[in-house]
Amino acid sequence: MRRKLAAGNWKMNGLMQTLAEVETLHTAHPAPRCDIVVCPPATLMCKMAEICAPMAIEVGAQDCHENEAGAHTGDISAPMIADTGARYVILGHSERRAAYGESDALVCAKTRAVWAAGLTAIVCIGETSKERDAGNTLDIVGRQLAGSVPDGACGSNTVIAYEPVWAIGTGKTPSLAKIAEVHNFIRSRLTNRCAADGDAIRILYGGSMTPRNVEKITAVTNVDGGLVGGASLKAADFGAIVATLGK
Ligand code: PGA
Repeated sequence: MRRKLAAGNWKMNGLMQTLAEVETLHTAHPAPRCDIVVCPPATLMCKMAEICAPMAIEVGAQDCHENEAGAHTGDISAPMIADTGARYVILGHSERRAAYGESDALVCAKTRAVWAAGLTAIVCIGETSKERDAGNTLDIVGRQLAGSVPDGACGSNTVIAYEPVWAIGTGKTPSLAKIAEVHNFIRSRLTNRCAADGDAIRILYGGSMTPRNVEKITAVTNVDGGLVGGASLKAADFGAIVATLGK
């Protein structure tokens, strides 16, 4: 049985005062029946990890450099993230693939770095609307999955997040049948490649997940939770998603 995971991606949002949201979340859900990870901007990671240490809330980063240390102005490495007490790292988010030209090979190198630091990678994949309209969703997702995840993936070091690019921050979501098709496809690729380990890897759905649609989406086979952007910023919304995932 894969335990469901509620992963919040705060993106470039949040100041020190926003840390109160995780305390509110904890107060409302002190013993959640799903795993929770919140990925704040790097500036809040250290403090959030300290606050969350006694709570059932893990902390994650939104990206990292593929090297351990060196002359890379502005970047942070996986060992630095581990040093804050964070346990997860989002990699290959479509916003980074689009804005910084991150390739599958780079995401793969970053995943290796995350594993080497003893952390869990949340590897994001998903098609654009153009690719979807051309009927290429499975090709794109299959290629990104093969190229972004190194050999050796298992349930404890890797989470896959399927995020159709056109669904992110738009209020649009694919049909449940389409989500099922893609998640089943990802599962079969994972089990073909990693056998039993592939069956233990959680596959999250991401893209306009809200308290309103989470119940239907997570009832779909092979949806093991959500990667949530906008609706993770407020404890009340994210808490409602946590409650549904824990059912
Ligand atoms: P959204 O973002 O929930 O605001 O659509 C999801 C994500 O980009 O991870």
